[in-house]
Amino acid sequence: MNHDHKIKSGWSFTGNNGDFRLEQPDRSSFLYFPLVNEGGMMSSVSPKLHGQVTSGHNTFLTPPLSVEDLHNSRASRNFWVYIAGQGAWSATGDSARQNAAVYGEAADESLLEAGLLWHKVTRENKELGLNAQITSFVPCGNDKVELMKVVLTNSGTKELTLTPTAAIPLYARSADDLRDHRHVTSLLNRIYTSAYGVEVQPALSFDERGHRVNHTSYGVFGAAEGGAQPVGFFPVQEEFIGEGGSLDWPEAVVRNLAPEIGEGGGRVKEGYEALGGLRFAEITLAPGQSHSYVVVLAIENDRIGVPVLMAKYGSTAAFDALLEENKTFWAEKVNTVEFHTGDHSADEWMKWVTLQPVLRRLYGNSFLPYHDYGRGGRGWRDLWQDCLALLIMEPADVRSLLLNNYAGVRIDGSNATIIGQQPGEFIADRNNIPRVWMDHGAWPFLTTMLYLDQSGDLDFLLQEQTYFRDSFMSRCKERDTSWEPAAGSSLRTAAGEVYTGTILEHILLQNLVPFFNVGEHNNILLEGADWNDGLDMAAQRGESVTFTAFYASNLLDLSRLLITLKERTGGDTLELAEEMTLLLDSLGESVDYESITAKHALLDRFYATAPNKVSGVRAQLKLEQVAEDLARKAEWIFAHLRRNEWVDSGHGDGWFNGYYNNDGERVEGEFAGGTRMTLTGQVFPLLGHAAAPEQIASIVSAVERNLFDDKIGYRLNSNFGGIQQNLGRAFGFAFGHKENGAMFSHMTVMYGNALYKRGFVKEGRKVLDSLYSLSADFEVSRMYPGIPEYINEQGRGMYTYLTGSASWMLLTMVTEVFGVKGKLGDLLLQPKLVKEQFDAEARASIKTIFAGRELKVVYTATGSAEYGEYQIHAVKLNGAEVTLQRVSEGVLISRSLLSALPEGQVHLLEVELA
Ligand code: G1P
Repeated sequence: MNHDHKIKSGWSFTGNNGDFRLEQPDRSSFLYFPLVNEGGMMSSVSPKLHGQVTSGHNTFLTPPLSVEDLHNSRASRNFWVYIAGQGAWSATGDSARQNAAVYGEAADESLLEAGLLWHKVTRENKELGLNAQITSFVPCGNDKVELMKVVLTNSGTKELTLTPTAAIPLYARSADDLRDHRHVTSLLNRIYTSAYGVEVQPALSFDERGHRVNHTSYGVFGAAEGGAQPVGFFPVQEEFIGEGGSLDWPEAVVRNLAPEIGEGGGRVKEGYEALGGLRFAEITLAPGQSHSYVVVLAIENDRIGVPVLMAKYGSTAAFDALLEENKTFWAEKVNTVEFHTGDHSADEWMKWVTLQPVLRRLYGNSFLPYHDYGRGGRGWRDLWQDCLALLIMEPADVRSLLLNNYAGVRIDGSNATIIGQQPGEFIADRNNIPRVWMDHGAWPFLTTMLYLDQSGDLDFLLQEQTYFRDSFMSRCKERDTSWEPAAGSSLRTAAGEVYTGTILEHILLQNLVPFFNVGEHNNILLEGADWNDGLDMAAQRGESVTFTAFYASNLLDLSRLLITLKERTGGDTLELAEEMTLLLDSLGESVDYESITAKHALLDRFYATAPNKVSGVRAQLKLEQVAEDLARKAEWIFAHLRRNEWVDSGHGDGWFNGYYNNDGERVEGEFAGGTRMTLTGQVFPLLGHAAAPEQIASIVSAVERNLFDDKIGYRLNSNFGGIQQNLGRAFGFAFGHKENGAMFSHMTVMYGNALYKRGFVKEGRKVLDSLYSLSADFEVSRMYPGIPEYINEQGRGMYTYLTGSASWMLLTMVTEVFGVKGKLGDLLLQPKLVKEQFDAEARASIKTIFAGRELKVVYTATGSAEYGEYQIHAVKLNGAEVTLQRVSEGVLISRSLLSALPEGQVHLLEVELA
C-alpha cells in the first residue's frame, strides 16, 4: 500500500521478516508486545519489561494488570545491577532513579528491536558505562514458559564491579483475588527455594470455583553464563523491598544486602507475597567485557521439575537455539500468506496483521493489557470471524471447525453464547442472563459461503449436526421450565432422541426466523444488540435496519445457492424439520409481509410447534420452491428498505438509516442538533445486495461528508450528543472513543471490503489505506505494527493485537485487492490493484494457499497499471500457458488443474495484465 503523506514512523522495518526497531520505546506509554505459545503461555511485555505472564484467568504468575499499570505499577520483570561505587541501576530501566530521570539529561538511551515473536530492549547509561540487552520470548511448544536473557556489557572505559539481582513478583493465583482477598490469599503461599530459584505453590485456591486444594506452581529460575547458580534468594517481597522501600527502590538492592537464603536454597517460606528474587554472584567487567544471564518464568500443573526445566531452558546456548526455532515457527505460520507490492513497509506491516488472527485464537479477548476483562473465552461472533482468517491461513482445519460450530444453534434460530474449550462444546448459561444478539445468525452463512467458494465442498451443506438446547426458548422470551441441565444440551425429538439436521437446515433456520421477528417499522428487532455490543439498551422496540439488510442478502444468496445445489447434485428436493415449513410460508399459506402482526403470529405458531423440541419428522420440499420463497422474502426486504429507510440528506446525497431506538424513533438523519449517521448502517446494505447500484455513490459521498475525519479516519458514527439511554451504553462513552464515534477498525475494514466488492475500488482503497496510514503513523498512533481495534479521538491506536478487524483486513487483501478467490471451488482471479500498488517492475504478487496448493500469483502490468484500464490478458501456470476461461468478474482457473499439481512446493501463476 502506498500513501501520499510521509509517515514519520517511530518504528521502521529492518528486513523481510517483519522485524522492526524503535528508538526510546519507553518514551511512549501504553506500548506492549505479545509473547505466546500454543501450549497456553500468554505473556505481554512492555519496553520496561512490565506486562503480565499467565496461562489463564485463575493462573497468573505476575499480578494481573490493566494498561494503566504498565506505567503506574512498580511490579515488573526487573533485573537489578548494583554497581560498586555508583549504586543501584535497573537493566529494565525500572528504578525510581531512572524513572525520575526520564525527561532529563541523565536518562538512559534505549532501543527496541522486535520480530515474530521476540522482543529485545537494549539500554545504555553512558555516564555509568553500562549497557544491558534483554531478550524475551515464549518458546513454541507445550511448556508454559517465558524466557529472558540479560547481557550486561561494560560500555565505558573503567572497570565495573556488578552485583545482579533478578526480581520478579510471583503473584501466583487467580485474577479474581486482585480485589477479593488479595492479602488473605497471600497467606496460602508456600514458597520454596532451590538451587536455581523460587517456586510458589499456594496451598489452596480461592476463586469462583470455591476453596480447593491447589496444585498449580509458579516459578522464577535463573543461571549465569556458564550455568552458574544464583548465590542467594529473596523469596519474600516485603523482605526484599525493606520497610519503606518499594519494588522500584528495594532496600536489598539499594543497600546491596546479602540474601538471608544463600546458595543452593532449600528453605521454605510461608504466607507472604512472593518474589522471584535471585541474587547472582558479584562480577567484575573490564571495558568491552560482557556477562549474560538466563531467567526462566514457568507455570506448571504441579510442583516444577526444576533440574529438567533448567536443563531444557536454563543456558544461553539453549536460549539462543530456542529463539531461532521460535522465529522459524512464527515465520512459517505467518508466511502462508505473503504480499509484495510497491510499498515494502506496507507489505511488512501486513505480516503483523496476518499474525493477529492467530493471536486472537490464542488469547481470546483477554490477557493483554487493554483486554482487562473476560476469562479468555471467545464469543459466538468471533468464532465465525476467526474462521475467515483461518480459511486463508490454515484451511485444512476449517471444515470440522465450521461443522462443530453449528452445534451451537438453537431451534429458535438463536444460539448458545457460552463457548466451551473443545470444538463444538457449548455451555448452557447458568447465570440466567437471557440475551440474544440479533446479528449472530447472520455470520455463519457468510463464513460458510466463503468456505464453499474456496473449497467447492457443497456436500458440507448436507452434513448433519445436532442443535443446542438449554432453558431459553423463543429467542429468550420464554423459559423451558421442564429443562434440567442433566437432560443435556442437545435438542431432542418428541421421542427423546437427539435430533440432527443438515447444516443447510441450520443456516435456513438462522436466517428465516429473524425475517419474522420484526419491530414496529417492519425491520428485524435489535434484541440484546447487534454487531455493536454497545447498542444494548433497546431490547424492546429497537430495530437493526442494517442487519435486516444483511439477513436479506443472505436469503437471496441462499436462494441462489439452492439452485446451484440442484444443478450440481442433480437433487431436486430438500429435507427439513417439518416444523420449519411454517417459515417457508409461500409453500403453504402465504403471509402478507407488510403485516407485522401476521409475521408475529406466524413466528408464535412456529415457536409453539417447536418448543425446545421437534417431532423428528422431516418434510420433503422442492428445492426450487424453497429457493423461490427465500428470494421473495429477500426482494421484499430490499424494496422495503429502499422505500422506507433511505435518508435523503438534502445535500445531494443520502444514506441508509441503520437503527430504531427503544422509543421506536428513527435514529439517523438530519436533526436540529446535527446529523446523525452510522457507518454500520451503510456497511451491510453495501456488503450485500440491499443498496441498489445507483445508491452506492450517494452513500460514499454521505460517508465522506459526515464520518470521514482526516485525523482519525472513518468514524463509526457522527456525534449524536447525549447518552442515548434508549439505544445503548456505547453513547455513554465520550465521543470519539471506542463504539461511540472512534475509527473502529472492524467496521471500517468491512466498509472497505464492501466498496471493493461493489466495484468502488478507488474509494475502497482510500478506506484500507487510511487504516494502514493511521496505524503506522507512530507519532500519533503510538502502537507497534498491526491494526488496532480502534483509533481514538487523539489518533492513538487502542486495544492492539486482539481484534476481529485483522481477519477482515487479511481476507480483503487476498480476495478483493489481489482478487484471488474461490468460486465454488474454482479459482477466480479478479485483481483490483491500483497503480501505486505495483512495484518498479510493474509487478505485484501474493503467495497464498488454494486447493491445498501453495500458489504465488504474480501480476504484471504490461500496459496501464490503473484499475479499470487493465484486463487479464494471459495466464501461465509454472511457465505453461493456461487457456483462459473468462467470466463476468474475471478469469476462472479450474480446481482440477490446480489440485493435479504436486503438493509441498510453491506453484507460479504469472498473470499478464494489459
Ligand atoms: C469487538 C468485539 C466484536 C464486536 C465489536 C463491536 O471488536 O470483539 O465482537 O462486534 O467489538 O462491539 P474487535 O475487537 O473484534 O474489533
